[in-house]
Amino acid sequence: MLSSIEISDFQNLVLQKGQELYREMPWRSNPTEYYVLLSEIMLQQTQVARVLIKFEEFIEAFPTIESLAAADFYEVLQRWSGLGYNRRARFLHQTAQAIVQKGQFPRTVDELVKLPGIGINTAASILVYAFNQPEVFVETNVRTVFIYTFMPHETEKIDETTLRSLVQQTLYTKNPRRWYWALMDYGTLLKKTEGNYNRLSKMHTTQSKFEGSNRQKRAQILRLLLKEGVCTQEFIAHSLHISEELTAELLAALLKDCMVQSENERYFL
Ligand code: ADE
Repeated sequence: MLSSIEISDFQNLVLQKGQELYREMPWRSNPTEYYVLLSEIMLQQTQVARVLIKFEEFIEAFPTIESLAAADFYEVLQRWSGLGYNRRARFLHQTAQAIVQKGQFPRTVDELVKLPGIGINTAASILVYAFNQPEVFVETNVRTVFIYTFMPHETEKIDETTLRSLVQQTLYTKNPRRWYWALMDYGTLLKKTEGNYNRLSKMHTTQSKFEGSNRQKRAQILRLLLKEGVCTQEFIAHSLHISEELTAELLAALLKDCMVQSENERYFL
């Protein structure tokens, strides 16, 4: 357990850093439920700089959660393109539909994790940023700050329980939103100046190489379907120079993830 002095020293340092390093972002200056949901899903696997551009485009096309829920999936995917990990677009669309149908935005982690694409950390982050609720979550910047501060020389991999306990003990409950913004901005700075302390975490993974991967081929198939509308497996294989066998496997996986539909051996979004 941390002492109350350690806690207040740490809080003061992080809040000070947060003030110095604060980055303006549309979902920070205007943290509506919809903006926060959208940005947190986008930021799961994509860097802030790219999200900033795509976010503006996305809300121009879908200014409200209702407009997103009412859109066709292919339009959502079109606006998502460039962010990668396209399954998030499907999850986001389904989540928007579920929330609109229910008529109110969830206010608890338990309710939020029932929605597609939302795990406990994303759920808690949404509650923090949208409602300023004091919730505990861990993500890459949070891990960086806590490991750098409290266990920089750890030789065994650090587990999430240890990190969650530290986050819980030090949570600045007076203004959780400001607290986590500060952790984000301080964590980003530390990654640049001090190296990647995240590697000491059990959860540390690196994104697999995109070039030449099946993930890339899946993205190519989706792009082709966006452009062409309806395609046969043979046409897809031929257009993208992928073997029929692998194309069949990729299409089966896309079908299973509800990313594409098929009828009479034709595929479409
Ligand atoms: N501000 C709000 N959420 C954020 C996130 N996930 N990363 C960086 N800054 C943020």
